[in-house]
Amino acid sequence: MPEATNYAHLSPRLSVGDAEPDRNLALELVRVTEAAAIAASPWVGFGDKNSADGAAVDAMRSLLSTVSFNGVVVIGEGEKDEAPMLYNGERVGDGTGPEVDVAVDPIDGTRLTALGINNALSVLAVAERGTMFDPSAVFYMEKLVTGPDAAELVDLRLPVKQNLHLIAKAQNKRISQITVCILDRERHQPLVEEIRAAGARTKFLMDGDVAAAIAATREGTGVDALMGIGGTPEGIVTACAIKSLGGVIQGRLWPKDDEEKQRAIDAGHDLTRVLSTNDLVTSDNCYFAATGITDGDLLRGVRYRGERIVTQSIVMRSKSGTIRTVEGEHQARKWEAYTR
Ligand code: FBP
Repeated sequence: MPEATNYAHLSPRLSVGDAEPDRNLALELVRVTEAAAIAASPWVGFGDKNSADGAAVDAMRSLLSTVSFNGVVVIGEGEKDEAPMLYNGERVGDGTGPEVDVAVDPIDGTRLTALGINNALSVLAVAERGTMFDPSAVFYMEKLVTGPDAAELVDLRLPVKQNLHLIAKAQNKRISQITVCILDRERHQPLVEEIRAAGARTKFLMDGDVAAAIAATREGTGVDALMGIGGTPEGIVTACAIKSLGGVIQGRLWPKDDEEKQRAIDAGHDLTRVLSTNDLVTSDNCYFAATGITDGDLLRGVRYRGERIVTQSIVMRSKSGTIRTVEGEHQARKWEAYTR
């Protein structure tokens, strides 16, 4: 199994200007998620999610240090004491260029990676400094995600059935043709019943609601909405993607116990408030990059083809709305030599 390595030399330094992040940044970020996905890939299917996550974190941090920005991790691996790397508040980037907020999810789907199951991604989002929502350690949030057709119509405060009918009408479909992705969790049992009672279908996810949220906003994926309670960090990262994709994410903080609830109230959060895409990231100049670790509906996972390591990534920039799928071919021997 691979040991901790330094990947910093693998990324060229591009100047992105001092004032605000510019278009070059999107392509720089994809190198970071590629490195994290490649580093995680030897651990796929070995049942060891901590080692997979450690490898991805290490690679992501190392490559981030080469990107020309002055970044602060606002959505990271946790507080400094528990997370040795990519902790909230950690400075990343080479310190030059624009000041940005950075949200990292080196593996969305650590369990999927460890078990060799589809839909694990490495994810990174960047936005101008101070523009990402601060959830004050409320880990979960209720989510409603759908594509552009019904984006202006749905409302998390409405009954589930009503939202589903609004989505069906906007998409010119019958309710029975609407599929809702939902994390397979006991807490979702009442929601699952409501969705089915409304006449729509459910599609369960073991993990990884970022990929599913993206699917919910895009045509032809067979998914029309994502509902249910998932990670707040993943919700903020999703908002950065939706700024390019179109569609909407609405969220409402869901503290898991009284202590977390009190902390959120003390931090000034209104727990009844529905947060929109624009509340989760206020900037209209944000970036999202993701690389597949295991195969999935959104992206293929890391493949080893003879001498080559092949990656597939998606990268988006909200200012232009550009969405690119990037195929990377990396020479396995050179990669190994670099990382020794
Ligand atoms: P990790 O890979 O960081 O474990 O996150 C996976 C994930 O499924 C997210 O996609 C989702 O938002 C969150 O966990 C849901 O949390 P939980 O597993 O506690 O329900």
